[in-house]
Amino acid sequence: MPRLVVVSNRVAPITEGEPTAGGLAAGVLDALKQKGGIWFGWSGEITEGEASPVHLERTVGSITLYTLDLSRRDYDAFYRGFANGTLWPTLHYQVGHAQFDWAEFDGYRRVNVLFARALARLVRPDDMIWAHDYHLLCLAEALREAGLGNRMGLFLHTPFPAPAVFMTNPAHEALIRAMCGFDLLGFQTEDDRTAFADYVVRQAGGSASDDGVIGAFGRTVKTGVYPIGVHVDEVRHEAEAPAHQRYASRLHDSLSGRPLILSVDRLDYSKGLRPRFIAFERFLERYPHHHGAVVFMQIAPPSRGDIETYREIRRALEAEAGRINGRFAEVDWMPLRYLNRGFARSALMPLYAEAQVGLVTPLRDGMNLVAKEYVAAQNPDNPGVLVLSQFAGAARELDAALIVNPYDETGVAAALDRALAMPRGERIERHTAMLATMRRNSLDAWRDRFVADLS
Ligand code: G6P
Repeated sequence: MPRLVVVSNRVAPITEGEPTAGGLAAGVLDALKQKGGIWFGWSGEITEGEASPVHLERTVGSITLYTLDLSRRDYDAFYRGFANGTLWPTLHYQVGHAQFDWAEFDGYRRVNVLFARALARLVRPDDMIWAHDYHLLCLAEALREAGLGNRMGLFLHTPFPAPAVFMTNPAHEALIRAMCGFDLLGFQTEDDRTAFADYVVRQAGGSASDDGVIGAFGRTVKTGVYPIGVHVDEVRHEAEAPAHQRYASRLHDSLSGRPLILSVDRLDYSKGLRPRFIAFERFLERYPHHHGAVVFMQIAPPSRGDIETYREIRRALEAEAGRINGRFAEVDWMPLRYLNRGFARSALMPLYAEAQVGLVTPLRDGMNLVAKEYVAAQNPDNPGVLVLSQFAGAARELDAALIVNPYDETGVAAALDRALAMPRGERIERHTAMLATMRRNSLDAWRDRFVADLS
């Protein structure tokens, strides 16, 4: 039986018998458990000399984890530079945050080649290779140059933007050509897939047929839509687990019966945290009957802190949180709680269950699993309300949420007021509809459909 070889920039730490970090990691591990195989990626370590040789990280059952360390030069050009300073903002329509440097693009390709050469020594001829995300757009091209003829698929976790946005990146053609080296390209939503097909047809003189098959640069590539999901029942189980209630009960006690609006995001400008804080301020201005009676908690673990745009957003949010609290707080009420830290998944799911409103308003997001986990964590008999950005991939499926435009701060404020007043019957109706969709598009379905199409 062909094995599965998963390649991603980060490799989730796995320990037998313990739950893994979250969505992607869980989905990838399930797939690997079924087929057996390899998970390969960057160790997260930087060496001062050359990139390290591949090391065997650990073996768990039929899965083997291999990693390598990046040299400082490769880390700077590949991770800090092209992947996160150029591609990430462009893919999320945040072109104002994107920088571009050909030397960094060379570094990006160099690391894709480094990964490919390391993989070439681990892969057997009938293995299927499943690459993940924007770090590895050039991987298939590099693997083919290294002489591999295996089936190769890429799943893009981020959005793929409209061609005019993608083309602000001067390396756009080289990137699309490289992506066409894969046999299967998976996207989160039809919008993303169509944007890619549009580029191929209108900018690269290629062809696209109704069944998703694309012809360009002398290659035939299948494209498909595979919305990533969550293990619905596991999330609810974790949310209720008595052993994991320590933070949730402290939170519950501190609220003294006040409803909670909760947001959880990596500290990233694409998540729309600043406009969200302003929307909350607008909400307090326009609906003064909520003063003293509601709490907004933003959990935002710092991310990519050695990139200047990320340091900027952190400073800006600290200033906004202080300003809004300074303006509205009372001696016995602080409207906004801003936590610059992460929580273990086991502690987070019970926090979701505590919140009457889940506020998820990215400016762009491939899917956004927080939205899905929030819904899955709710008590079906008395569920909270999801307020969701129309620009999250999840909005395509979770259309029973209160859908908002994150750029419309007044609209978000009105949705918060509506969510807090929503009668139980309507909350249950919306929650039931969302749960049904999420069961259909589960994490198992995502994995099975992608792997079936790849094979
Ligand atoms: C997003 C990306 C992932 C990435 C994660 C954390 O979810 O789609 O590929 O691993 O952010 O970012 P980091 O830069 O810390 O790996």
